[in-house]
Amino acid sequence: MAADPAPPTPNADQAALWNGPAGHAWVQAQALMDDILAPMARPLAEGAAGAQAVLDVGCGAGAVSRAIARRLGPAARVTGLDISEPLIAHARRLAAAEGSAAQFVCADAQTCGFEPGVFDRVVSRFGVMFFDDPAAAFANLRRACRAGARLHLIAWRSAAENPFMTTAERAAAPLLPQMPPRPAGGPGQFAFAEAARVRAILDAAGWSEPALHPFDADCALPKAELMPYLTRFGPLGLVLPQLEPEMRERVTEAVGRAFQPFVEGDQVRFRAACWQISAVA
Ligand SMILES: C[S@@+](CC[C@H](N)C(=O)[O-])C[C@H]1O[C@@H](n2cnc3c(N)ncnc32)[C@H](O)[C@@H]1O
Repeated sequence: MAADPAPPTPNADQAALWNGPAGHAWVQAQALMDDILAPMARPLAEGAAGAQAVLDVGCGAGAVSRAIARRLGPAARVTGLDISEPLIAHARRLAAAEGSAAQFVCADAQTCGFEPGVFDRVVSRFGVMFFDDPAAAFANLRRACRAGARLHLIAWRSAAENPFMTTAERAAAPLLPQMPPRPAGGPGQFAFAEAARVRAILDAAGWSEPALHPFDADCALPKAELMPYLTRFGPLGLVLPQLEPEMRERVTEAVGRAFQPFVEGDQVRFRAACWQISAVA
C-alpha cells in the first residue's frame, strides 16, 4: 500500500513568496515603503506606550519594531518576527545601524514555538493577512501572551475601497489576460477586509473583545518613484519580469497612464483604507 502523502507545510506558498520575489522587492524598496507607510506606524508606536514586551508580527524590515523600541526605551523588550530571511537580515542591519534595542527572529508566526505567556502587546502593520490557517496563527500568538495582553493590528480594508492598490493590475489586465487574479478569500493583502471574518478568526483563536475601527491614512510618494514602485509590487510585479521587452513597455505605459489621477505635481497621493483591529488575550 502506498504511504500517505506528507501533510503540506503550513504557509509554504507565502514562505516561498516572501523569501523570494516579494521579500527581495521589499528589501530593495524598504526606505520608500517605510516613507509611504509611515502614517500606519505612528498609531502602533503610540498605542504601545506602557508595554513591557512587544511582539511585531510579520515585521518585515522592522520599521514598526524600531519605532516602538525608540518610544519605550531600553527597559522594554521589542521583538520583530517574520517568515522572510532577507527581510529579517535587513531588519537586523537597520537596527544595528540605528543602535536599536529591537531584536529580530525569522520564523512563521503560525507555527513558531513561542515561550508561553511572555508578551503584553502584539502589533502588526500589514503582517497578519498571509496565514493559511489564521485561527491557528492567532491562537499561537495568544499563547505567547500574558493574560490581558493587547492586540493592535493595522490591515487593509477591501480592494474596492483601495483603488490605488489595484489600478496597476486593472490597467494591465487587457494586455495580460494570462495574469492570475488575486485568489479570493485566501491569504493575501485583502484577507482581513471583512470585519465579520476577522472577528470570527479572533473569537476562534480565543481573543476577547475583538474590535475593528476604520482608519484612513493619507499616503504619498515622489512621482519619480511611482514606476519603480508599481513594477515591483503586487500581481504585476510578479508577472512583469517574465514578459518580452516590447510587451513590458506597453504594459508599463498603460499602467503609468492609469495612475495619472493620483499625480499632484511631483507627488503621487492616495488614501489608504485600513482597519485598526484590537483584542485582549
Ligand atoms: C506587507 S509586508 C509588511 C511588512 C512590515 N510589517 C511593514 O509594515 O513594513 C508582510 C510581511 O508579513 C510577513 N509574513 C507573511 N507570512 C508570515 C508568517 N506566516 N509568519 C511571519 N511573517 C509572515 C512577510 O514576510 C512580510 O514581511
